[in-house]
Amino acid sequence: MRYIMKISVVLLLFLSTLAHGQGQKDYSPSPENLETRHWFQEVRFGLFIHWGVYSILGDGEWVMNNQNISIDAYEKLPTFFNPVAFDAEEWVKMAKDAGMKYITITSRHHDGFSMFDTKANSYDIVDGTPYGKDVLKQLADACHKEGIKLFFYYSLLDWHSDDYYPRGRTGTNISGRNAGDWDNYISFMKTQLTELLTNYGDIAGIWFDGHWDQKEWDGKKFGKLQVDWHYDEIYKLIHDLQPQCLIGNNHHLAPIEGEDFQMFEKDLPGKNTTGFGTPASDIGQLPLEVCETINGSWGFNLQDRSHKSEKELVHYMVKAAGHGSNLLLNVGPMPNGKIQEEHKESLKKMGQWMRENGETIYATSAGPVPPTEEMASTQKEKTIYLHLLEQDDKVFVKDFDLNIKTVKLYKDKSTLVHQKNGFGLLVQIPKDKLDPLDTIIEITLK
Ligand code: GLC
Repeated sequence: MRYIMKISVVLLLFLSTLAHGQGQKDYSPSPENLETRHWFQEVRFGLFIHWGVYSILGDGEWVMNNQNISIDAYEKLPTFFNPVAFDAEEWVKMAKDAGMKYITITSRHHDGFSMFDTKANSYDIVDGTPYGKDVLKQLADACHKEGIKLFFYYSLLDWHSDDYYPRGRTGTNISGRNAGDWDNYISFMKTQLTELLTNYGDIAGIWFDGHWDQKEWDGKKFGKLQVDWHYDEIYKLIHDLQPQCLIGNNHHLAPIEGEDFQMFEKDLPGKNTTGFGTPASDIGQLPLEVCETINGSWGFNLQDRSHKSEKELVHYMVKAAGHGSNLLLNVGPMPNGKIQEEHKESLKKMGQWMRENGETIYATSAGPVPPTEEMASTQKEKTIYLHLLEQDDKVFVKDFDLNIKTVKLYKDKSTLVHQKNGFGLLVQIPKDKLDPLDTIIEITLK
């Protein structure tokens, strides 16, 4: 009986690897890769950019699926995509001024259109638009010049290619899709990834998305994966081409072998407000990254006015850092290549905040007080930064029993009255020193 149980456990483990898609076997990260991971963990803040021909329709990057636009009709979009006002340097400077240290941009999204000069097909910005120039190349050059690292978002799923077959759960009502060959699709992706990792200098990471499209869905929950993504070969290819390049995959699962960071979409690590959050038990040991939109959309959305306030953005970043995670904050540029003013304004404010308080975020790790709506904490050696997200002049930190040397206000280093007892730590902040965004208390330990 026990023997049978053992066999079934082994079988289950085996099946679960199969279900996730096998990763890069016996992967051990190169020294360069570990160095990028270390850099990644310290920088804490990056810019996500969702840009494609979909921006013309001003209805987000899922517009092809959401409006069931046929292949024929969608193919008209590139013919009038002409972002003459695009200025790579300006984007990079904007990110830099916001205190961001890296940019992750969509190289090809679910619509299958490549925003770079690919030779794998002609459905790309150079061959298919009046603009005719490779925007990723321009961005890569500007990033390298300005010391900003570059990641490429790369969609695994494709609503345009016939070879993306079997089709996934999405894009099912797009007419004009035909049956093709999965193996061709895998080699197409390999060709494109080789291009992305050969023609654009050092790339800090590849950000995969779309894995979930191939999971069977019974209306209530996901079942097993219906395809083999060949992650073993794809991840190896990437690491062979550029050993320092980090691999992350937005599959919402525990990391698969060969991945170098773990990402969370619109949810803090371990939270699940979206319905697809990764459970806390699936958080691994890799560097973490949370991505979030600056309004409610990834790709440009003309009608989306739910721009997050400076306070919401700062709080989200502080909480992410309190989880030991980066924040990858998204903008969706307009079809002319400009970023909307509201978003540029928000990024400016973030930059100002980071210049004043970045010390409490960059190169920190998760602090001893787990993030809540009221507070979050980060830590650098013997210094704890307690971020108070609510306007309270008396703060009680439950169960805080570390040996304190000093308690000060971060801003002006004034000493704060505090008491510690068996239940925790009570700190008093003069009312006029409360910061409406985030009152930071600096606690040094003995
Ligand atoms: C989701 C969406 C996609 C977006 C991504 C960003 O996976 O499908 O459109 O790019 O989230 O996290």
